[in-house]
Parts: sequence; structure tokens; C-alpha cells
Amino acid sequence: MEPVFPTETLESAIRIDSHLDGAEGRSLAEDVLDGLTRPFKELPPKHFYDARGAQLFDQICELPEYYPTRCERTILSERAKELAELTGAVELVELGSGTAAKTRVLLDALSAAGTLERYVPVDVTESMVRESAETLTAEYPGLQVHGVIGDFERHLEQVPPAIGPRIVAFLGGTIGNFPPGSRRRFLRQIAGLLGEHDHLLMGTDLVKDPRVLEAAYDDSQGVTAEFNRNVLHVLNRELGADFDPDDFEHVALFDTEHEWIEMRLRARRELSAHLSGLDLPVHFDAGEELRTEISAKFTPERLEGDLAAAGLELSRWLTDPEGLFALTLSARRPL
Ligand code: AVJ
Repeated sequence: MEPVFPTETLESAIRIDSHLDGAEGRSLAEDVLDGLTRPFKELPPKHFYDARGAQLFDQICELPEYYPTRCERTILSERAKELAELTGAVELVELGSGTAAKTRVLLDALSAAGTLERYVPVDVTESMVRESAETLTAEYPGLQVHGVIGDFERHLEQVPPAIGPRIVAFLGGTIGNFPPGSRRRFLRQIAGLLGEHDHLLMGTDLVKDPRVLEAAYDDSQGVTAEFNRNVLHVLNRELGADFDPDDFEHVALFDTEHEWIEMRLRARRELSAHLSGLDLPVHFDAGEELRTEISAKFTPERLEGDLAAAGLELSRWLTDPEGLFALTLSARRPL
């Protein structure tokens, strides 16, 4: 049978721009050189996510102790229709889209409301952007996908101009990975993607009983511990390091003053490692810690303060029945 549509029409439903330029590899080397030579050793959490790390993270999301993913999914499925109606969005821009698992709930709602035209996934993992573009254009007839392969911390200006009212989604609570100053700076950058009729839809984990929080980051099956130690596997492979990940104990603590979870790797003994790719020796005293992640937890007040600092205003505060996690809608504050 003759194809019903010319091939060009089908192909033009997908456009993908890649902004990967080798700077990703440089950023690991720089972060390591910078972070492992400090008096208090530290690495940014983005380096957890190689293929194995991404897989471990998916496993974390299914753990009984790790409530954020489930809560966010619940809120999304219960409120997606309302969000679609409130925003009238024709496009969804998703920062850190990953496998686009939760995205479908939103796309379904926008499609049911009859407004959906375009999906703009932004992610560093090329295969995930390409796969979700293929499957989503097949699932949603008429949907355009404009994928942006890049780091949302560096490539936000590569997000194409809006084609109508848009939702920029930043889900999962990843905003919590930014320390307070950079958090506000990043929110300001996101605000730059928003016009008068656009909305930011953001997931944020909430302050709660430290025991609940610490269990979510130190699960009984040890998946989070393995996820944490995975950064050492990344250093071994990418920078020719010779860490034995088993030399490090997984630590997860709620810092009640800053209201954030800290994950650390604590040396079980005094040890030395060498990173041949950087020609860098690294020494750990017994008990010395490497901070690998902060994951900030929010109160409505803190979130409103951060949003206000970015020129944004909260318009909806949606939580799960237990009040563990919040999904918020905000818009640019009128001048
Ligand atoms: C992907 C940043 C939202 O902070 O909860 C999960 C990462 N770290 N368990 C989080 C994570 C340990 C996660 N975020």
C-alpha cells in the first residue's frame, strides 16, 4: 500500500538538536580536580548518572522507602486535568526528561483538553531523547517533538521559542540538588523561558520527620548505598582512578539547620587512590567523608521565597494525601 503521508511530513514531526560538545567529559574532570582537592571533599551529584547509575536510580524510585516518585505520580494523575485547564498549554518543555515516564500523564491531559501541539524534552542522554521522540510522536498523532540534547544547567538558551502557552516542567525534586544561591540563579534562568501566559510546574520534596527522610536515602536493600558508591565506579572508568568502592560506607543524614539531606561516602580506613587521567593522587583519612549530594527539602515559605527571588509567583500548591511531596505551579510575577 502507498504511504498515506509523504515521509517528509512524518519525519518533520521530530527535530533533535544536540549541544553535546565534549564539555561534559571536561566538566567531570574539572569537578573532580576541584572537588577532591578541597579541605572538605565534595562532588556534584550529576556524575552519579552513567548507565548503571541511571538504572540504580530507577530502582530507587520503586523502593518502599523512597516516596517522592510515587507521591509525585499520584499528584500528577489526580491533578493533570486541572493543570491542563488552568494553563491551556500547547507545549510541554521538560527539563531532565529522562525516560519521560511521568510525562505521559501530562501529555494525556493536554491532549484530552485539545491543546497539545509540541513536546520539548531537554536531557543529556541522547538515546533517551531520541527514544521518547520516536515513541511519543507515534502515540500522540500530530504531536511535534523538538528534543534538546544538553545539560539543563548550561543549555537552557537552546530551548526553542514558545509556540503558545507553555508548561516548563522540572519534576522529581531535582531542584533540591542546587544549594540555595545557585537554586535561585537557576530558577531565574527558568523564569527566562516563561512568557506572560506560561507556567513552571515543579516537584519539590517537603520537610518532614527526619526518620522518614533518612530512610528514603538509606534504604534497607542498600540500593541507595550502591547508587552513592557508583560515582566511584564512574571515576574509575572515566578518569582511570583505582578506588575500591567497598572501602567507602554510605552515609545519609538530614541536616536540620539547612533542611537538606546530605549523602556522603565515608572512608572505612585510611587510603590513597590515584586518578591517572588527571595525574592526581587523593588521600582519605580513616573516617574522612566525601559529600556527594545535597537534596533540599522545602516548606511553602522557603519555596515562595526562592520563587520570588526569581521573579516567580506560586499559583497552585498541590500535595499528596500525606503531604510528603509538593507539585507547584508558578508564573512570572506581573511587573
Ligand atoms: C533525582 C535529585 C530528585 O534527591 O531524591 C535519590 C536523587 N539521591 N536517592 C533525590 C537521589 C538518592 C533524587 N533526585
